[in-house]
Amino acid sequence: RPITIARAAKERMADSENRGANSMWGGRFAQGPAAVMREINASLPFDKRLWRQDIAGSIAHARMLGAKGILTTDEASQIIAGLEAIHAEYAAGNLPEDLDLEDIHMATEARLADKIGPVAGRLHTARSRNDQVATDFRLFVRDCADEVDASLALLQRALVDRAAEHADTVMPGFTHLQSAQPVTLGHHLMAYHEMIGRDRSRFRDARARMNLSPLGAAALAGTGFPTDRHMTAAALGFDGPTRNSLDSVSDRDFALDYLMAATQCSLHLSRLAEEFVIWASQPFGFISLPDAYSTGSSIMPQKRNPDAAELVRGHAGRIMGCMTALCVTMKGLPLAYSKDMQDDKPPLFEAHDLLGLSITAMTGMVETTSFRTERMRALAESGFSTATDLADWLVREANVPFREAHHITGRAVKAAEEAGLQLAALPIATLKGIDTRIDERVYAVLTVDASVASRKSYGGTAPDQVRARIAEARAALNGEAGQ
Ligand code: ARG
Repeated sequence: RPITIARAAKERMADSENRGANSMWGGRFAQGPAAVMREINASLPFDKRLWRQDIAGSIAHARMLGAKGILTTDEASQIIAGLEAIHAEYAAGNLPEDLDLEDIHMATEARLADKIGPVAGRLHTARSRNDQVATDFRLFVRDCADEVDASLALLQRALVDRAAEHADTVMPGFTHLQSAQPVTLGHHLMAYHEMIGRDRSRFRDARARMNLSPLGAAALAGTGFPTDRHMTAAALGFDGPTRNSLDSVSDRDFALDYLMAATQCSLHLSRLAEEFVIWASQPFGFISLPDAYSTGSSIMPQKRNPDAAELVRGHAGRIMGCMTALCVTMKGLPLAYSKDMQDDKPPLFEAHDLLGLSITAMTGMVETTSFRTERMRALAESGFSTATDLADWLVREANVPFREAHHITGRAVKAAEEAGLQLAALPIATLKGIDTRIDERVYAVLTVDASVASRKSYGGTAPDQVRARIAEARAALNGEAGQ
């Protein structure tokens, strides 16, 4: 008999009579939870991912309780030794699974009781799962920010290396995806280096802001035990303790800071990915994507699809969805902790995993793509991309007001179009026929190389400018690697 929704629902509601009350908090409960209550309540299936942070937090807490005489030194040592043994078990892959244990915090405490007996029950003195989970999650998100920063540094390096290789390679620059002015490929790649640099600074800002310890805020109001929150904060690498216990257990802005930085970063990656998709298409033909980042078609033998780039583009949508999910979860929640906040973790985990894949795939594509530079040059030379240079020449050499020069150049482009020629190939007689102030010297600015070389303004596309920016970028990357 197939399981209908109705039957499954009945089964999930049943079975509370058959279960005993929860051993951690069931003192005033006669009955156990409905099966569905166990299922909806349990975060263990996902929050076991916080196990390292949970054990680190508990060890710091136990050590502090011992140092302050809240536990005896012997009790604290037994607890710490037990937690270290559990660390080894978890690291070997034996993570808890039983949904009755609810979450990683209770599962670890239960495991500690198995190992060291009733003294395990003293670990939870002067704390609550509310400050515990806030601490674990901050530690986790802090690691995420560090990881992303490090992998973005690799992407920056790849961009800088390829840009250095192509500081002189001419390609069409676009506005409205219409040929606008020639630029260099190095300049184009360095634009993404800038974007990624700002993304990195956003992750670093988020990290600096989140780096205060909620541990010891307890359930919501602090504790009457003589704890030392500065001590646990220092042990966990925080800059100090958080200043308000209600805020400590009830905000997840640190996770949102991460998710917003991740969203912005994924938007940047999606733009670069989109360029790769366009560049790899036959009408453009600017790159050939390496086999390692392409797939074939099961029906069209000629196909080489840019799937990795498409997925980087697509993942931005999911990452933004994760950010939106946590925004909506947090919206309108009163102080202090509410169980809604348990839903903070899946979107953070998902976004972090997707972002990691996107950064790594994009780095690989940047490193290994081959750029078809003749094709880029050919397209840069078509499309009248040096029209602005002609107008600028009239301004500079013939003192024509720019607006008038723009009109004159428009007529030259029209003549070239009609003749099926590029601007640089128009006979001087034709150009003089359009405006007598034009002379032979104009040809020097109509080539794409002259065009890019002339754009020497700070941050412009001239190869010398691009090389200067690359040198600075390299020095910065080497400097931080040496830190
Ligand atoms: N699993 C919970 C979470 O992730 C831990 C905190 C539970 N606190 C509570 N008061 N029930 O949010």
